[in-house]
Amino acid sequence: MANSKLNVLVLHGPNLNLTGFREPDVYGKKPLEEIDKDISTAAASLGVDVRILQSNSEGVLIDTIQEHRRWASAIVINPGGLTHYSIALRDALVSVRLPVVEVHLSNVHAREEFRRTSVISPITIGQVVGFGGYGYVMALNALLNLDKEVV
Ligand code: DQA
Repeated sequence: MANSKLNVLVLHGPNLNLTGFREPDVYGKKPLEEIDKDISTAAASLGVDVRILQSNSEGVLIDTIQEHRRWASAIVINPGGLTHYSIALRDALVSVRLPVVEVHLSNVHAREEFRRTSVISPITIGQVVGFGGYGYVMALNALLNLDKEVV
């Protein structure tokens, strides 16, 4: 990644299209469209190229990861409920050999027991949880910093 422009694929998994409406006390009141605008604004000011996609379909997420394996230099993903069981999504992320940051709007570690398990996190650089939509901006900054640190 070092010395090259960062191209980041940002993926939102199932049900995240309802962010702002769904359980606002857990996931926040900001609609996904506004979160995506914040991501694009932050990316532009950081000089990062982003492509953003939300899908309720595991297959579409996997296809998108595969299709972006040459364009992307990193992936930021909130896998939604797939986090807790999708080996297929994890395999896709491993297959493309790109750095991955996992984002969750809520602090999954402070919620139900089943949300504390992520089959995705062992193959990521790290997780950003509990900061709402700002977590995606944090992830971009973290990747950029990593980019500077990697020799
Ligand atoms: C989530 C947490 C998941 O447990 C849940 O299934 C979601 C959203 C989050 O962003 O906090 O859909 O990924």
